[in-house]
Amino acid sequence: MASQYAKHSVLLCFRIVFSCFFLPQIFLFNARLASAQTPAYACASGNYTFCDTSLDVKIRVDDLVKMLTLQEKVANLVDGAAGVSRLGIPKYEWWSEILHGVSNTGPGVHFTSLVPGATSFPQVILTAASFNKSLFEIIGKVVSTEGRAMYNVGLAGLTYWSPNVNIFRDPRWGRGQETPGEDPTLTSNYAAAFVRGLQQRDDGDKDRLKVASCCKHYTAYDLDNWKGIQRYTFNALVTQQDLDDTFQPPFKSCVLDGNVASVMCSYNQVNGKPTCGDPDLLSGIVRGKWNLNGYIVTDCDSLDVIFNNQHYTKTPEETVALTLNAGVDLNCGSFLAKNGESAVNKGLVNESVIDRALTNNFATLMRLGFFDGDPKKQLYGNLGPKDVCTPENQELAREAARQGIVLLKNTAGSLPLSPAVIKSLAVIGPNAQATHTMLGNYEGVPCKYVTPLQGLSASVSTVFQAGCSDVSCATAQVDEAKKIAAAADAVVLVMGSDQSIETEGRDRVNITLPGQQSLLISEVASVSKGPVILVIMSGGGWDVQFAKDSPKITSILWVGFPGEAGGAAIADVIFGLHNPSGRLPMTWYPQSYVDKVSMTDMHMRPDPATGYPGRTYRFYKGQTVYSFGDGLGYSTFTHSLVQAPKVVSVPLEEGHVCRSSSSTCKSIDAVEQSCKNLGFNIQLRVRNVGTMSGSHTVLLFSSPPSVHNAAQKHLLGFQKLHLTPQTEGLVKFNVDVCKHLSMVDELGNRKVAVGEHVLHVGDLKHPLTVRI
Ligand SMILES: *[C@@H]1O[C@H](CO)[C@@H](O)[C@H](O)[C@H]1NC(C)=O
Ligand SMILES: *[C@@H]1O[C@H](CO)[C@@H](O)[C@H](O)[C@H]1NC(C)=O
Ligand SMILES: *[C@@H]1O[C@H](CO)[C@@H](O)[C@H](O)[C@H]1NC(C)=O
Ligand SMILES: *[C@@H]1O[C@H](CO)[C@@H](O)[C@H](O)[C@H]1NC(C)=O
Repeated sequence: MASQYAKHSVLLCFRIVFSCFFLPQIFLFNARLASAQTPAYACASGNYTFCDTSLDVKIRVDDLVKMLTLQEKVANLVDGAAGVSRLGIPKYEWWSEILHGVSNTGPGVHFTSLVPGATSFPQVILTAASFNKSLFEIIGKVVSTEGRAMYNVGLAGLTYWSPNVNIFRDPRWGRGQETPGEDPTLTSNYAAAFVRGLQQRDDGDKDRLKVASCCKHYTAYDLDNWKGIQRYTFNALVTQQDLDDTFQPPFKSCVLDGNVASVMCSYNQVNGKPTCGDPDLLSGIVRGKWNLNGYIVTDCDSLDVIFNNQHYTKTPEETVALTLNAGVDLNCGSFLAKNGESAVNKGLVNESVIDRALTNNFATLMRLGFFDGDPKKQLYGNLGPKDVCTPENQELAREAARQGIVLLKNTAGSLPLSPAVIKSLAVIGPNAQATHTMLGNYEGVPCKYVTPLQGLSASVSTVFQAGCSDVSCATAQVDEAKKIAAAADAVVLVMGSDQSIETEGRDRVNITLPGQQSLLISEVASVSKGPVILVIMSGGGWDVQFAKDSPKITSILWVGFPGEAGGAAIADVIFGLHNPSGRLPMTWYPQSYVDKVSMTDMHMRPDPATGYPGRTYRFYKGQTVYSFGDGLGYSTFTHSLVQAPKVVSVPLEEGHVCRSSSSTCKSIDAVEQSCKNLGFNIQLRVRNVGTMSGSHTVLLFSSPPSVHNAAQKHLLGFQKLHLTPQTEGLVKFNVDVCKHLSMVDELGNRKVAVGEHVLHVGDLKHPLTVRI
């Protein structure tokens, strides 16, 4: 997304010029602020059937679509939709963003003196590190309330193209920060919870939407621009097995568990076909198998990319036909508005296909109340500027950052710092005064900022040296930094990256800290007399082996891009006002990994023949700097097993091939009747044996028998609980054998392996035999 906007400025200019010619003002103002002739809202007057709220959405949409001319139809298949002024339907800008707060990255959102900012939550990768499903959902709920409030005053849309649920496959990816990390289970859970939080209405009406969410970028999209290889022309070669067990699950969960109202197809090709032109991926899977209730939108502008960058089609009309026939309903961009009519006139696409697309789009708007008359008289109609940046919402932004922050290293006696002991703190580093950097990308304008230095200065007296002029740190000012470090009781170094190092359109080459950052850290640590706390602010992981190994660096915290209240949250953790419980949602590899592995190699599984090491904790067996799930707290928690079966028997139907030859059956299909409702509970007792209250994250992994090239382990589920010192609690996992213990075989079929599966939580291991 935002590619043409950010990267292809030439195309963008073209798009704006074009748009301004046909669709004046669409990029400048929300529909209801636009020209005087534009109706304020649809169905303000007139008694059209499509305005009759007592009728079914389908009847209303059919009525509307059949009244339109081909020109009117085509003009409503793009993000800057023209509306139909003769029927009192205003223009509508479909493109708004709400990744971690209402964002003005797309043209649908504006901040003005009326609403100067919105609550800016941590970038998604940090929120994911909380492993807290209620948090994912409540953030969705809060940001959609702010979005709806801004819509009511003409500053935002109702259709948000968030979240990004692509798998963080390679540590170099600049957009990994936008995602919930490398694990399909975590990402699927995040997707469903965040989407529910965004979309669900407080009146429980499941047919209607508070706002419409969109899961992107479908599919196998996780390379932006690496050594000159661009996402626009990248052909991701993906095996059926990797597609079905790594790249597709978050989208599936988004549609089936989250009931998302939209899926966005990506720029890249998958196995030689542009995703937005692949009928199997769109009509076949998203619309067909998963039964999407909503619209399929292209990235901006994937149609232009297919034609002009990929040269996949010979004419613009052919491009229109390819994508619409594949299942696209809406084009972010203007390509379809420009070429749609001629594609129909040339007989390349039937008008019925245009009608289908339009129906999906209008039905979504109808579920949002767009055709229900005055928004002020609807549910959420009373929301306004007063509901944006409320103290509660801003407090939740701070709470979310605290819950996500990951304590990676903590030598005894280092953290938390006690202000009674530590009277002076040296704060060093190019991110110590971070403001905008804390937001990450797809950001909005925040309510306000608390920088790390401000956060820390609230508790103790601080002295500050940046140490580098920016995060690139071409030349570190080592001497000045050492001087204040040597004089202080403790040192906090706030290092890492910003969007100049990792962002959309910018993948990294190296995963060592930029420039002379490592030198600065080591030099400062060498003269410090007390604790040295390294705070890494970034979206992706780093090879910080030197810091992990250094006895002088006593603590390491990863704080993601922690959002507007990041500095306060960092201080809460450092001074022990919050007991950290975040866990890494992605592997931190050594630099040697990226030296060896091409970013373009999509394989998840290792290949012993070539020495290719595989990707993510599920498949990579080599050394890591830090691993998926790593994270410490200030208390110790112990686990013990209360309940778990040792054997699970899968009953096979009469005549099942494995009944007669059970010894040769290594796995059985996870879709068979025998597999239905086959489940059990696992109960664990968790005890806080430390002296501090805190939350504890329980990650339940399963290692299946090694058949079908299965993952060495996978996350079966996760739970969180809060415990005061010396108390215990129970966590329960409801395990569905076919869902949670299954794997995808080489052909993409879901199977349950027969034999011993090992369940593990921390050091606790429990063998479980699946037999038939
Ligand atoms: C509503 O529409 C019908 C026909 O569609 C028309 O006969 C009637 O006069 C209209 N009523 C009003 C109040 O506009
Ligand atoms: C249009 O629809 C007709 C009738 O269903 C069909 O025969 C024809 O192949 C379609 N044309 C295109 C271009 O899809
Ligand atoms: C990456 O690191 C290597 C050494 O490992 C260095 O030679 C190269 O200049 C670095 N490249 C970038 C883009 O920083
Ligand atoms: C999960 O997040 C919610 C919302 O912030 C919070 O109330 C709850 O305590 C968190 N759960 C745990 C176990 O920390």
